[in-house]
Amino acid sequence: MGNNEKLQEFKEVKAKMLKGGGEARIKAQHDKGKFTARERIEGLTDEGSFIESQAYIKGRTTEFGMDKKRFAGDGVVTGSGKINGKQVFISSQDFTVLGGSLGEMHAEKIAEAQNLALKTGSPFIQVNDSGGARIQEGILALNGYAKIFRNNTLSSGVIPQFSVILGPCAGGAVYSPAITDFIFMIDGKSHMYITGPDVIKAVTGEIISHEDLGGASAHCAKSGNAHFHFETEEDCFYFIRALMDYLPSNNQEQPPITETGDPADRKSNVMSIIPDVQTKPYDVRDIINEVFDNGSFLEVHKDFAKSIVVGFAKLNGRTVGLFANQPGFMAAVLDINSSDKGARFLRFCDSFNIPIISLVDVPGYLPGIAQEHGGIIRHGAKLLYAIAEATVPKISLIIRKSYGGSMIAMSSKSLGYDRVLAYPTAEIAVMGAEGAANVISRKEIKAADDPAIKRAEKIAEFQQEFMNPYVAAGYGLVDDIIDPDFTRIELIRALEMNVCKREERPVKKHGNIPL
Ligand code: HXC
Repeated sequence: MGNNEKLQEFKEVKAKMLKGGGEARIKAQHDKGKFTARERIEGLTDEGSFIESQAYIKGRTTEFGMDKKRFAGDGVVTGSGKINGKQVFISSQDFTVLGGSLGEMHAEKIAEAQNLALKTGSPFIQVNDSGGARIQEGILALNGYAKIFRNNTLSSGVIPQFSVILGPCAGGAVYSPAITDFIFMIDGKSHMYITGPDVIKAVTGEIISHEDLGGASAHCAKSGNAHFHFETEEDCFYFIRALMDYLPSNNQEQPPITETGDPADRKSNVMSIIPDVQTKPYDVRDIINEVFDNGSFLEVHKDFAKSIVVGFAKLNGRTVGLFANQPGFMAAVLDINSSDKGARFLRFCDSFNIPIISLVDVPGYLPGIAQEHGGIIRHGAKLLYAIAEATVPKISLIIRKSYGGSMIAMSSKSLGYDRVLAYPTAEIAVMGAEGAANVISRKEIKAADDPAIKRAEKIAEFQQEFMNPYVAAGYGLVDDIIDPDFTRIELIRALEMNVCKREERPVKKHGNIPL
């Protein structure tokens, strides 16, 4: 064969490789409203930046006629690309090849991309669209998953890891995403479950659709497994590209500083948001949007455990992790799910050098048999553990209530907050005035001629005595009481003051957070 023929052959082999499972299957993918593996990489990365790895790899299995079903690339496209100039590594499963199923070499490619991401300190993004373990490859496929899970675990806390579920993700395939930091899903298109509706019907008799069982809203709102959902793949890619600008590439770097154009000396009109009556709800996101750099708040886990709001924002151009009570949902009470949500987010921030700011208006942990028996002690402890463990700058702003155990989690200097600020409207106490009066004045109230009047007196007495920021400030538990108009200015000062913070921990293999 002469050189011309060799070049011609190369062009044909490459063109075939780029087509994955072929034109008909690409059309089927498009007809389902889904992009192909390569189109997805183009949507995520800067134009022309993608460098493909192991493009021609093929499966080695011969059983079940697999020697006749070999596709260059083996059903997954991997390599590195740039997002807004920042290097990332990507794997994107190709549903047009054997349903994106994971065989031995397919797994090798993903593991190689993970290894390179870890070695180069680059974020790793995996796009999942797969029928799960390639059944014909049996235990070699399972072995491949094990490599991927191990790499996910070793990378955890070293590089950010995203899982973008753009089709089926079933069986053991769900566990790699579950180990990563954030899961993204598309309404009506992404499905995650360890066993699908048919198996559930056979085993338990329950009947449920794919969407209700494992769709985006099931995981974003109910199970809490997923963090973000979108109407379209394009919306999802746009968001991931924006999110990347908040994060460092790895745990050795600081998060990027962005010019947001929002003046550092701008006053904050928060008092128009906080109701005059202490028990009335408001949306803490209105405060966030008023105080932090213009339009920079990216909420994480928006639909799950809504009594707490977490997400990234910019403050004077710096990335911060916000951890805020939400009086607009269940009076902001902390429960099992909000504790899990908060703790996981805080640990992500601490891993990647993102300072934490808590906005506090919380009556306590949720009382009830279901919560007690569901393990609120263990789950609630995660929040305390995550804050105490974190070495990043930690700033707390007490807006209204800060009571009991939740006061410790959200605003205690002794737990590790570096600067605690309070509004004049703050109420910092061991518990609410009604509960306190009922306990400490129980006998007096019972013996009174009119117990109701006596109870009201005792409640008012407790309120007068303790429901303010001055007692805590007098003990040094609050650093400063601030004029709410100066919230943005004071938070920027607190952040700048702590940004060079260095804190060591005793040498250990790892802690044992109550899981
Ligand atoms: C081999 C597979 C496959 C798989 C799909 N295909 N899943 N091949 N192994 N796991 C093939 C199909 O045979 C078909 O090939 C092609 O991919 C497209 O699949 P369709 O079924 O035509 O597509 P669709 O109708 O869209 O349905 C998609 C699907 C379905 C819902 C994902 O294919 C399905 O239910 N697959 C099996 C899912 C499953 O049980 N996975 C668990 C595997 S065990 P042809 O050539 O016929 O078009 C597991 C354990 C892992 O994952 C544990 C790890 C720790």
